[in-house]
Amino acid sequence: MKEKLQALRAQAMEELSAITSSGDQLSKNLEDFKVKYLGKKSELVSVMKGMGALSPEERPIMGQLANEVRTSIETAFNEAKENAAKVELENKLIAETIDVTLPGKQPLMGRPHPISAVQTEIENIFIGLGFEIVDGPEVEYDYYNFTALNIPPEHPARDTQDTFYINANTLLRTQTSSVQIHAMEKKKPPIRMISPGRVYRSDAIDATHSPMFHQVEGLVVDKGITMGDLKGTLELFSRNMFGEDTKIRFRPHHFPFTEPSAEVDVSCFACGGKGCRICKGEGWIEILGAGMVHPDVLRRCDIDPEEYSGFAFGMGIERIVMKKYNIDDMRLLYENDIRFLSQF
Ligand code: PHE
Repeated sequence: MKEKLQALRAQAMEELSAITSSGDQLSKNLEDFKVKYLGKKSELVSVMKGMGALSPEERPIMGQLANEVRTSIETAFNEAKENAAKVELENKLIAETIDVTLPGKQPLMGRPHPISAVQTEIENIFIGLGFEIVDGPEVEYDYYNFTALNIPPEHPARDTQDTFYINANTLLRTQTSSVQIHAMEKKKPPIRMISPGRVYRSDAIDATHSPMFHQVEGLVVDKGITMGDLKGTLELFSRNMFGEDTKIRFRPHHFPFTEPSAEVDVSCFACGGKGCRICKGEGWIEILGAGMVHPDVLRRCDIDPEEYSGFAFGMGIERIVMKKYNIDDMRLLYENDIRFLSQF
């Protein structure tokens, strides 16, 4: 039995060192080896089964030897397995070496659409002035878009702002002024907010019209708010938006929901007011409508006009984008042609 065990050990060692394959074949060979020499049906196990036939003196000696043989085969096997894993890893690292000197691939960088860029610029200026940015629904009740803003059914202002109706009293909003009403219903003064977003009108598409465009609404309501506050705010905004030397001009106008109302122009940022192609020789560019919130509008939102007053303004983002970048056709802003968009 002693010879048998020693021969078995020698055979195992020889066979183990003969395994030279790599990858999957190597793991399979190692696994086969394990089954053959260390498994439940291995020769070692069958030799050990013959132990019962030995004399009581021989039995512990052979038992010890069998254990030694088993341990040494096991140790050798584990070493071989570890070694195989190490070699495998090294091969993998060599195969996956990255050449950092290769020229990189330049990713195609996106950028904000000019409408988004200008909207963000406007938002940042008003955030700096302590305004809050609020969102409002594009699908709106007639009440918020018209009636609450002093434009009851049959009012002629409804004709100039015809829109898409979902049903008799639900429509796509024609102006962000609807958000004024939501803001005043939800929050009591002081209110300082702007609300940018899409608006819709039943207009045919041409170089200066689109059935969908963007506005930014502004609303301030507090005790003692005056036209002076409106002027000061718009002046600060215009200087930030169009340059330090920008001047503003108020022209009397009419909006049903503000009183008094005005249209507001900024001095042309291209020519400084001398008159050029961009301002069509005027020296001024109209950018928004504004006014003091009508007392009836305040009252309808449960705000006492004897105690509070406010101003509101609304500007079209496309108009500002087109003037700023000297774009003469609004349609270019919606076609999303990369050759056009990558210029900004
Ligand atoms: N909503 C008006 C428009 O679309 C603009 C406006 C807003 C005027 C707020 C006054 C106050 O023409």
